[in-house]
Amino acid sequence: MNVIVVYASKYGSTKEIAEFIAEKLREHGMQTEARSVDAAPDPGDYDAVVVGSAVYMGHWMKEAAEFVRRDRTVLAGRPVWLFSSGPLELESKTSPDDPELEPKEISEFRELIHPRDHHVFFGALDPERLGLQHRLIRKLPAGRALLPEGDFRNWDDVETWAGGIAQALGTP
Ligand SMILES: Cc1cc2nc3c(=O)[nH]c(=O)nc-3n(C[C@H](O)[C@H](O)[C@H](O)COP(=O)(O)O)c2cc1C
Repeated sequence: MNVIVVYASKYGSTKEIAEFIAEKLREHGMQTEARSVDAAPDPGDYDAVVVGSAVYMGHWMKEAAEFVRRDRTVLAGRPVWLFSSGPLELESKTSPDDPELEPKEISEFRELIHPRDHHVFFGALDPERLGLQHRLIRKLPAGRALLPEGDFRNWDDVETWAGGIAQALGTP
């Protein structure tokens, strides 16, 4: 079973989630690689596809959304899993299952490619790494409260999800 984990990541935390998923799938006996969407991977070369994106202002990164839309025919013909990495641990919204946290594109993607699942993972924010525009957004009133600093990624959650993919693909 040949699986690709395609990701879009601005500051690297989603890339690390994608690489972790690929590592876990390999541990389950699958041939798996994680590739940036910028490398224009061809999903037609793989038996199954995982696509993930960081979330900014309620949306997937443009490159990831374009990948799904462009390759929708190929993706619709394969088992596909989607993940989003975004929410930071907010006091008022601590569950990544909150439907309000689902990026805007996901309902469209459900129609287009019928993914087996979409999962939201907590993300990470390091203010030192932010580009100018994102620094300015964080300086707005309530910016720091809405975008708290920290690494909120839950690796147990990621591992469980990757295990579910392996199980669905029927590897030992
Ligand atoms: C300006 C800005 C806006 C953000 N907007 C959202 C958002 O709307 N929803 C969300 O879940 N996460 C949001 N986040 C959090 C990021 O998705 C999170 O930091 C993610 O882990 C970044 O992934 P990356 O390191 O791969 O780029 C935002 C972060 C920044 C800096």
